[in-house]
Amino acid sequence: MTDRITGRIEIVNADCYTLLDAWPSDAALVTDPPYGIGFAHGGGGGCLARSTRFAGAAIQGDDRPFDPAPFLRFARVCLWGANNFASRLPDSRGWLVWDKREGICTNDQADCELAWTNRDAVARLKSHLWNGMLKASERGEPRMHPMQKPVALLAWCLDVCGVRDGLVIDPFMGSGSLGVACHRAGLRYLGVEIDPEHYATAKARLQRETAQGLLCMPNAPRQTAERSGASLDADVRP
Ligand SMILES: C[S@@+](CC[C@H](N)C(=O)[O-])C[C@H]1O[C@@H](n2cnc3c(N)ncnc32)[C@H](O)[C@@H]1O
Repeated sequence: MTDRITGRIEIVNADCYTLLDAWPSDAALVTDPPYGIGFAHGGGGGCLARSTRFAGAAIQGDDRPFDPAPFLRFARVCLWGANNFASRLPDSRGWLVWDKREGICTNDQADCELAWTNRDAVARLKSHLWNGMLKASERGEPRMHPMQKPVALLAWCLDVCGVRDGLVIDPFMGSGSLGVACHRAGLRYLGVEIDPEHYATAKARLQRETAQGLLCMPNAPRQTAERSGASLDADVRP
Protein backbone atom coordinates (compact mmCIF):
# COMPACT_ATOMS: atom_id res chain seq x y z
CA MET A 1 0.00 0.00 0.00
CA THR A 2 1.21 3.49 -0.88
CA ASP A 3 -0.21 6.76 0.43
CA ARG A 4 0.64 10.17 -0.91
CA ILE A 5 0.16 12.50 2.04
CA THR A 6 1.19 15.65 0.13
CA GLY A 7 3.09 16.32 -3.08
CA ARG A 8 6.29 16.00 -1.04
CA ILE A 9 5.43 13.27 1.45
CA GLU A 10 4.83 9.67 0.39
CA ILE A 11 4.69 6.55 2.56
CA VAL A 12 4.63 2.85 1.75
CA ASN A 13 3.51 -0.13 3.82
CA ALA A 14 6.06 -2.71 2.69
CA ASP A 15 9.28 -4.51 3.47
CA CYS A 16 11.93 -1.93 2.56
CA TYR A 17 14.31 -4.61 1.30
CA THR A 18 11.93 -5.27 -1.61
CA LEU A 19 12.15 -1.61 -2.70
CA LEU A 20 15.64 -0.33 -1.99
CA ASP A 21 17.28 -1.28 -5.31
CA ALA A 22 15.01 1.25 -7.07
CA TRP A 23 15.95 4.22 -4.90
CA PRO A 24 18.23 6.93 -6.38
CA SER A 25 21.74 7.02 -4.95
CA ASP A 26 21.75 10.82 -4.83
CA ALA A 27 19.03 10.76 -2.14
CA ALA A 28 19.66 11.17 1.57
CA LEU A 29 19.13 7.95 3.54
CA VAL A 30 18.21 8.91 7.10
CA THR A 31 16.68 6.25 9.29
CA ASP A 32 16.35 4.54 12.66
CA PRO A 33 16.48 0.79 11.97
CA PRO A 34 15.71 -2.11 14.34
CA TYR A 35 18.97 -2.60 16.21
CA GLY A 36 18.85 -6.32 17.01
CA ILE A 37 18.26 -5.55 20.70
CA GLY A 38 15.84 -8.46 20.97
CA PHE A 39 18.53 -10.69 19.46
CA ALA A 40 21.29 -9.38 21.71
CA HIS A 41 19.18 -9.86 24.82
CA GLY A 42 17.61 -13.18 24.01
CA GLY A 43 14.45 -12.03 22.29
CA GLY A 44 12.41 -11.09 25.32
CA GLY A 45 14.49 -12.02 28.35
CA GLY A 46 16.10 -8.72 29.29
CA CYS A 47 14.71 -5.32 30.20
CA LEU A 48 16.08 -3.77 27.01
CA ALA A 49 14.40 -6.41 24.91
CA ARG A 50 11.10 -5.70 26.63
CA SER A 51 11.52 -1.99 25.95
CA THR A 52 11.24 -2.68 22.21
CA ARG A 53 7.75 -4.10 22.71
CA PHE A 54 4.60 -2.05 22.55
CA ALA A 55 1.14 -3.32 23.46
CA GLY A 56 2.68 -6.79 23.59
CA ALA A 57 4.05 -6.81 20.04
CA ALA A 58 7.77 -7.08 19.26
CA ILE A 59 9.46 -4.75 16.75
CA GLN A 60 9.90 -6.49 13.41
CA GLY A 61 13.51 -7.07 12.49
CA ASP A 62 14.65 -6.70 16.10
CA ASP A 63 15.29 -10.44 16.48
CA ARG A 64 18.47 -10.40 14.38
CA PRO A 65 21.59 -8.23 14.00
CA PHE A 66 21.15 -5.28 11.66
CA ASP A 67 23.31 -5.24 8.52
CA PRO A 68 23.82 -1.64 7.33
CA ALA A 69 25.60 -2.60 4.06
CA PRO A 70 22.61 -2.18 1.69
CA PHE A 71 22.04 1.37 2.98
CA LEU A 72 25.53 2.82 2.56
CA ARG A 73 25.49 3.67 -1.17
CA PHE A 74 23.48 6.89 -0.77
CA ALA A 75 24.97 10.38 -1.09
CA ARG A 76 24.15 11.25 2.48
CA VAL A 77 23.61 8.59 5.13
CA CYS A 78 22.59 8.88 8.77
CA LEU A 79 21.83 5.69 10.72
CA TRP A 80 20.51 6.03 14.28
CA GLY A 81 21.26 3.38 16.88
CA ALA A 82 24.52 2.67 15.07
CA ASN A 83 26.41 2.01 18.32
CA ASN A 84 24.57 -1.33 18.19
CA PHE A 85 26.09 -2.31 14.83
CA ALA A 86 29.28 -0.22 14.70
CA SER A 87 31.51 -3.19 13.79
CA ARG A 88 29.69 -3.50 10.47
CA LEU A 89 30.19 0.17 9.49
CA PRO A 90 33.13 1.93 7.79
CA ASP A 91 35.27 4.32 9.80
CA SER A 92 33.77 7.79 10.11
CA ARG A 93 34.68 10.86 12.14
CA GLY A 94 31.20 12.29 11.66
CA TRP A 95 29.26 10.43 14.38
CA LEU A 96 26.35 12.19 16.07
CA VAL A 97 25.65 11.84 19.78
CA TRP A 98 22.22 12.29 21.32
CA ASP A 99 22.42 12.90 25.08
CA LYS A 100 18.89 11.99 26.09
CA ARG A 101 19.24 12.33 29.87
CA GLU A 102 20.85 15.81 30.06
CA GLY A 103 22.49 14.66 33.29
CA ILE A 104 19.31 15.04 35.31
CA CYS A 105 18.20 11.44 35.44
CA THR A 106 19.40 7.94 34.77
CA ASN A 107 17.90 4.46 34.66
CA ASP A 108 18.73 1.02 33.30
CA GLN A 109 18.50 2.26 29.71
CA ALA A 110 21.16 4.11 27.74
CA ASP A 111 22.06 7.71 28.59
CA CYS A 112 22.84 8.46 24.96
CA GLU A 113 22.39 7.14 21.45
CA LEU A 114 24.73 7.40 18.50
CA ALA A 115 24.13 7.93 14.80
CA TRP A 116 26.68 6.98 12.16
CA THR A 117 26.90 9.41 9.28
CA ASN A 118 29.06 9.53 6.14
CA ARG A 119 29.84 13.22 6.76
CA ASP A 120 33.55 14.03 6.56
CA ALA A 121 33.17 16.43 9.46
CA VAL A 122 33.61 16.57 13.20
CA ALA A 123 31.38 14.66 15.59
CA ARG A 124 28.41 16.60 16.98
CA LEU A 125 26.36 16.39 20.18
CA LYS A 126 22.74 17.28 20.91
CA SER A 127 21.30 17.27 24.40
CA HIS A 128 17.56 16.71 24.34
CA LEU A 129 15.79 15.19 27.33
CA TRP A 130 13.64 12.17 26.44
CA ASN A 131 12.80 9.99 29.40
CA GLY A 132 9.19 8.96 29.87
CA MET A 133 7.20 11.97 31.08
CA LEU A 134 10.38 14.08 31.25
CA LYS A 135 10.69 15.43 27.72
CA ALA A 136 12.28 18.52 26.22
CA SER A 137 9.63 18.54 23.47
CA GLU A 138 6.29 16.97 22.49
CA ARG A 139 5.10 17.29 26.10
CA GLY A 140 1.53 16.11 26.57
CA GLU A 141 1.58 14.21 23.31
CA PRO A 142 0.95 10.45 23.54
CA ARG A 143 3.72 8.00 22.84
CA MET A 144 3.07 6.49 19.44
CA HIS A 145 5.89 3.96 19.04
CA PRO A 146 8.16 2.05 21.47
CA MET A 147 11.29 3.47 19.80
CA GLN A 148 9.93 6.91 18.93
CA LYS A 149 12.51 9.66 18.34
CA PRO A 150 11.92 13.34 19.06
CA VAL A 151 11.07 15.34 15.92
CA ALA A 152 13.47 18.04 17.17
CA LEU A 153 16.36 15.54 17.22
CA LEU A 154 15.67 14.43 13.66
CA ALA A 155 15.34 18.02 12.47
CA TRP A 156 18.75 18.69 14.03
CA CYS A 157 20.36 15.70 12.32
CA LEU A 158 18.97 16.74 8.91
CA ASP A 159 20.54 20.14 9.44
CA VAL A 160 23.90 18.81 10.67
CA CYS A 161 24.03 16.37 7.75
CA GLY A 162 23.42 19.25 5.34
CA VAL A 163 20.14 17.84 4.03
CA ARG A 164 18.48 21.01 2.80
CA ASP A 165 16.90 19.79 -0.44
CA GLY A 166 16.37 16.64 -2.47
CA LEU A 167 14.71 13.42 -1.39
CA VAL A 168 14.98 11.93 2.11
CA ILE A 169 14.41 8.16 2.30
CA ASP A 170 13.46 6.54 5.61
CA PRO A 171 13.22 2.74 5.13
CA PHE A 172 12.31 2.10 8.81
CA MET A 173 9.69 4.80 9.35
CA GLY A 174 8.04 3.70 12.62
CA SER A 175 5.57 6.40 13.68
CA GLY A 176 6.78 8.89 11.06
CA SER A 177 8.83 11.23 13.28
CA LEU A 178 11.32 11.93 10.47
CA GLY A 179 8.45 12.55 8.08
CA VAL A 180 7.18 15.28 10.41
CA ALA A 181 10.68 16.82 10.56
CA CYS A 182 10.97 16.71 6.75
CA HIS A 183 7.55 18.31 6.28
CA ARG A 184 8.47 21.16 8.62
CA ALA A 185 11.74 21.67 6.72
CA GLY A 186 10.01 21.60 3.31
CA LEU A 187 11.88 18.43 2.28
CA ARG A 188 10.60 15.57 0.16
CA TYR A 189 10.15 12.38 2.18
CA LEU A 190 9.65 8.71 1.34
CA GLY A 191 8.91 6.57 4.40
CA VAL A 192 8.56 2.78 4.46
CA GLU A 193 7.12 0.74 7.32
CA ILE A 194 6.50 -3.00 7.37
CA ASP A 195 4.16 -3.20 10.36
CA PRO A 196 0.55 -2.32 9.43
CA GLU A 197 -0.23 -0.86 12.86
CA HIS A 198 2.82 1.40 12.94
CA TYR A 199 2.09 2.33 9.33
CA ALA A 200 -1.46 3.38 10.24
CA THR A 201 -0.07 5.42 13.16
CA ALA A 202 2.42 7.20 10.88
CA LYS A 203 -0.19 7.86 8.20
CA ALA A 204 -2.62 9.44 10.67
CA ARG A 205 0.19 11.45 12.28
CA LEU A 206 1.44 12.81 8.96
CA GLN A 207 -2.08 13.62 7.82
CA ARG A 208 -2.63 15.60 11.04
CA GLU A 209 0.72 17.34 10.70
CA THR A 210 0.34 18.31 7.07
CA ALA A 211 -3.25 19.48 7.57
CA GLN A 212 -1.83 22.24 9.77
CA GLY A 213 -0.02 23.79 6.80
CA LEU A 214 3.30 25.57 6.84
CA LEU A 215 2.22 29.16 7.30
CA CYS A 216 4.85 29.86 9.97
CA MET A 217 7.59 27.68 8.51
CA PRO A 218 10.70 28.94 6.72
CA ASN A 219 9.91 27.11 3.47
CA ALA A 220 6.30 28.27 3.25
CA PRO A 221 6.66 29.52 -0.37
CA ARG A 222 7.47 25.99 -1.52
CA GLN A 223 4.27 24.74 0.09
CA THR A 224 2.41 27.49 -1.73
CA ALA A 225 3.84 26.23 -5.02
CA GLU A 226 2.73 22.72 -4.11
CA ARG A 227 -0.82 23.87 -3.44
CA SER A 228 -0.89 25.70 -6.75
CA GLY A 229 -0.24 22.42 -8.51
CA ALA A 230 3.43 22.91 -9.44
CA SER A 231 5.26 19.59 -9.82
CA LEU A 232 7.85 19.33 -7.05
CA ASP A 233 8.13 15.63 -6.51
CA ALA A 234 9.35 13.93 -9.65
CA ASP A 235 11.53 11.28 -7.96
CA VAL A 236 9.65 10.62 -4.73
CA ARG A 237 8.13 7.36 -5.88
CA PRO A 238 10.12 4.16 -5.25
C1 LIG B 1 13.44 1.82 15.53
S1 LIG B 1 11.86 1.80 14.82
C2 LIG B 1 11.70 3.43 14.11
C3 LIG B 1 11.05 4.40 15.07
C4 LIG B 1 10.96 5.82 14.51
N1 LIG B 1 12.24 6.48 14.53
C5 LIG B 1 9.95 6.68 15.25
O1 LIG B 1 10.31 7.77 15.71
O2 LIG B 1 8.80 6.26 15.38
C6 LIG B 1 12.12 0.78 13.40
C7 LIG B 1 10.85 0.46 12.59
O3 LIG B 1 11.25 -0.29 11.43
C8 LIG B 1 10.20 -1.20 11.12
N2 LIG B 1 10.76 -2.27 10.27
C9 LIG B 1 11.47 -3.35 10.66
N3 LIG B 1 11.86 -4.07 9.59
C10 LIG B 1 11.39 -3.41 8.50
C11 LIG B 1 11.49 -3.65 7.09
N4 LIG B 1 12.14 -4.73 6.60
N5 LIG B 1 10.92 -2.77 6.23
C12 LIG B 1 10.27 -1.67 6.71
N6 LIG B 1 10.13 -1.40 8.04
C13 LIG B 1 10.70 -2.25 8.92
C14 LIG B 1 9.68 -1.66 12.47
O4 LIG B 1 8.35 -2.16 12.37
C15 LIG B 1 9.79 -0.37 13.30
O5 LIG B 1 8.57 0.32 13.33
